[in-house]
Amino acid sequence: MIFTVTSNGQAASGTFRMVLSSPEYHGSARGGQFAYILLPGYYLRRPFAISDCGEGWLEIIYCTVGNGTRELSGMAPGTRLDVLADLGHGFDIRATKDAAVLFGGGAGIAPLKLLARELAAAGKKVTAIFGFNRAVDIPEAIMDEIRSSGAEVLIATMDGSAGTKGFVTDALREHGCSFDYWYSCGPLPMMKAVCKAVDCGGQVSMEARMGCGTGICYGCSIMTAKGARRVCKDGPVFDREDIIW
Ligand SMILES: Cc1cc2nc3c(=O)[nH]c(=O)nc-3n(C[C@H](O)[C@H](O)[C@H](O)COP(=O)(O)OP(=O)(O)OC[C@H]3O[C@@H](n4cnc5c(N)ncnc54)[C@H](O)[C@@H]3O)c2cc1C
Ligand code: FES
Repeated sequence: MIFTVTSNGQAASGTFRMVLSSPEYHGSARGGQFAYILLPGYYLRRPFAISDCGEGWLEIIYCTVGNGTRELSGMAPGTRLDVLADLGHGFDIRATKDAAVLFGGGAGIAPLKLLARELAAAGKKVTAIFGFNRAVDIPEAIMDEIRSSGAEVLIATMDGSAGTKGFVTDALREHGCSFDYWYSCGPLPMMKAVCKAVDCGGQVSMEARMGCGTGICYGCSIMTAKGARRVCKDGPVFDREDIIW
């Protein structure tokens, strides 16, 4: 589907947000599903979690880590992009009985923004705990949007310049939230630490380098407790007990 960039700007140090529009898109993504974007001049598409969506538009939040994302950050409104939208399996909100905690780090906040809105709309209590290196890495406007969707947002920074000093698990200990389920997206060490620190059920969003993005090439396979699984098709969201850390 061809989308047009309608806005694209910096949200924090090294973090950008882009809104893409297409009259053919119906805003049907669930938190955890991704958009697979073809950048002009690149053979492989780049996957990005859909952080929000509505009738005719979707949003991505991305960090500039290499050439493709740097080029993306320079794209002006009006640029047309070929996008495969709503790929993969998203988070399952039915697993939460009453209250959920979302653990995110870096670009991992992206799918959790949409998930927070879905959980709050379903009447669940939502606490989002986000970890960053420094205060300047926090996309404040996005944090405010997540708050206004009905979630409490807690921050942890490695240098202590905002919120709790340390990891998301330190913020969890400091605030002592009560919850019956959790969801996480971010760096592997963070998700592993959450798994170790929290006893109840949870789901994690995994990353892998992708080829087709639609389940055909098996290039994104990871070994899980249930055998080899494709991140693009069987995931990117998996139950915590399926992940072999
Ligand atoms: C399901 C999924 C959802 C993602 N959601 C987000 C998001 O919401 N925001 C965000 O900032 N990033 C997200 N990523 C990571 C993002 O896809 C990479 O950062 C991006 O593709 C890097 O492109 P690049 O050209 O700038 O970097 P490159 O110079 O190509 O590589 C830099 C690093 O990015 C990773 N990468 C590159 N190409 C791919 C690919 N086709 N598939 C997977 N990883 C790749 C590799 O680990 C590589 O080491 C997601 C990845 C996956 C698999
Ligand atoms: S990228 Fe081809 S099967 Fe996942």
